[in-house]
Amino acid sequence: MRAQGKTIAVTGGGNGIGREAVLQLLSKGARVAALDISDEGLAETARLAGANAERLSTHVVNITDRAAVEALPSAITDRHGQIDGLMNVAGIIQPFVLFNDLDYSAIERVIDVNLWGTIHTTKTFLPHLLDRPEAHIVNVSSMGGFLPVPGQTIYGVSKAGVKLLTEALHSELAATNVGVTVVFPGAIKTNISVNSGVVTQAEAEKQAASSNYKTTEPAVAAQMIIDGMEQNAYRVRIGSDATFMDRFSRLSPKRAAALIYKQMKDLLPS
Ligand SMILES: NC(=O)c1ccc[n+]([C@@H]2O[C@H](COP(=O)([O-])OP(=O)(O)OC[C@H]3O[C@@H](n4cnc5c(N)ncnc54)[C@H](O)[C@@H]3O)[C@@H](O)[C@H]2O)c1
Repeated sequence: MRAQGKTIAVTGGGNGIGREAVLQLLSKGARVAALDISDEGLAETARLAGANAERLSTHVVNITDRAAVEALPSAITDRHGQIDGLMNVAGIIQPFVLFNDLDYSAIERVIDVNLWGTIHTTKTFLPHLLDRPEAHIVNVSSMGGFLPVPGQTIYGVSKAGVKLLTEALHSELAATNVGVTVVFPGAIKTNISVNSGVVTQAEAEKQAASSNYKTTEPAVAAQMIIDGMEQNAYRVRIGSDATFMDRFSRLSPKRAAALIYKQMKDLLPS
């Protein structure tokens, strides 16, 4: 589905990849409803949109709150007249600890935001998308959704859920007007660890300074996601890390898991 002239709702539009997606969709001539829990983040996205902000609406919402999500379509159609697309980008990571040391509140929070949040928005918007001549859903999973990343086990569980939800929707909706794309980013240069409340800004800066892991810029990730929607891609892998691990984990799942364990083990508490 081409972005030009369409109305697209983007969760996580207040930061990182979601913000870049909002700005690029606006530049392509789309109308955008940016959804985020962060009022400040949305205000900054609107500021960055400049003159394009006349085609932007911002909606402060916690996607774990089903009733609040269900109120969105009427707010969006009141402002834009229609909804043609949904990009589920909002997400959080878990604290970098082993499953055995992860408390239930952290487990529930990650599954609530990443999986339930995506289920809420998708269930809520799908009937509206089915009413359009052409529509599209893009769900952001993760490399951690097809590969076991130690220290991010429950994050991976939530993202594997998003992967399967999206792939199954692709099949269920194949005969309809709604295209479906799943996205697997590798490491993207955003502030997700701080935004997820798992490290402080100072800790994040220290980690970034000492790491030589190659990351992808969020603007590049957003462009690949939008290209994926416009080309009706089945799946989009972002970054050489996600592309390589996607191939390797299908060729040799156990060796791929061992490789990622080796890369991650220094980050884990001993
Ligand atoms: N950054 C990476 O390395 C990376 C890698 C793989 C996948 N991803 C995925 O990409 C997506 C975007 O991540 P990002 O790196 O841009 O992170 P980010 O922290 O920059 O942006 C995420 C946004 O989601 C919002 N959000 C969080 N909880 C929410 C809630 N309950 N309701 C509404 N909004 C909420 C945040 O306020 C934030 O604006 C996430 O789903 C993430 O899991 C990121």
